[in-house]
Amino acid sequence: MKYLNLGCGQRFHSAWTNLDFRSTGPNVIAHDLTQGIPFPDSSFDVIYHSHILEHFSKSKAKFFVNECCRVLRPQGILRVAVPDLEQIIRAYLDSLEKAQTGCLDAAKNYDWLLLELFDQVARNNSGGEMAAYLFQEHIPNKDFVLERLGAEARSLIEASQRQCDVNHSREFILKKGLRSLLDFFRESGKRRDFFLKKILSAAEYDAFQVGEFRRQGEIHQWMYDSYSLAKLLSDCGFSEVTRRNATDSSVPDWSKFNLDSEVDGTIYKPDSIFMEAVKTEPSALINGS
Ligand SMILES: C[S@@+](CC[C@H](N)C(=O)[O-])C[C@H]1O[C@@H](n2cnc3c(N)ncnc32)[C@H](O)[C@@H]1O
Repeated sequence: MKYLNLGCGQRFHSAWTNLDFRSTGPNVIAHDLTQGIPFPDSSFDVIYHSHILEHFSKSKAKFFVNECCRVLRPQGILRVAVPDLEQIIRAYLDSLEKAQTGCLDAAKNYDWLLLELFDQVARNNSGGEMAAYLFQEHIPNKDFVLERLGAEARSLIEASQRQCDVNHSREFILKKGLRSLLDFFRESGKRRDFFLKKILSAAEYDAFQVGEFRRQGEIHQWMYDSYSLAKLLSDCGFSEVTRRNATDSSVPDWSKFNLDSEVDGTIYKPDSIFMEAVKTEPSALINGS
């Protein structure tokens, strides 16, 4: 079986061909997927992508799913995970109604759900308001946030706590100044920024930075519910479109890859819709079935 994991981020497996904008680990191929999928027709048995489709505009998403269809062999399986717009909106309406009756816990959940809905679309810098919320020392509704974002949020919160401890150490503060000076000379991006600041006004430089950030693949450009995701897959020529959960799949031994679930069985991104579809045989298309 040949497996392809697109937009893998930090979530890759050695049995898979893994690909992302930037190489995030050993054997992760760096490639911009808006330019297509860099493999020949019918070259994979399974394609998986998690929380990547919403990073493309609506038209680019269609191009991307068509590319998945091209690269899959006939009867190959596409598995997709995206944040579930319907679930977010239902949770938002529930917290809004309770917050309006004066429930303070619901008001905190309401704040978080607005971040889920808008911050990932509206932010102009990495992490945005959502990172600020997750990285505060005391998260007022931590259990709710963990229930919604799962293992991913837990590791982010733990990483920020570790960084917070390091930041407060004296050694770190002394080394930080020296390190940033060295970085300045080392990193070509920083040298480029230095020169750009010399030739652009502050407003022009700010516009350049915002534009560059928004093209880097972090922000959401569209969202899906189970209806619109199923329609997109069907429109791109897939059949047998089936809703799944994190551990249920037609991919043999899916759970052993630990892509949508952790080793202990917790769900990596419980805010997701998981959906699978099969690439239709060319003969079925010709026969119109
Ligand atoms: C929210 S992360 C999801 C990462 C991983 N699949 C997961 O579920 O944890 C979105 C990923 O899509 C990648 N990405 C966004 N646009 C991309 C593009 N045009 N080409 C390649 N990767 C892209 C980002 O670099 C990022 O790693």
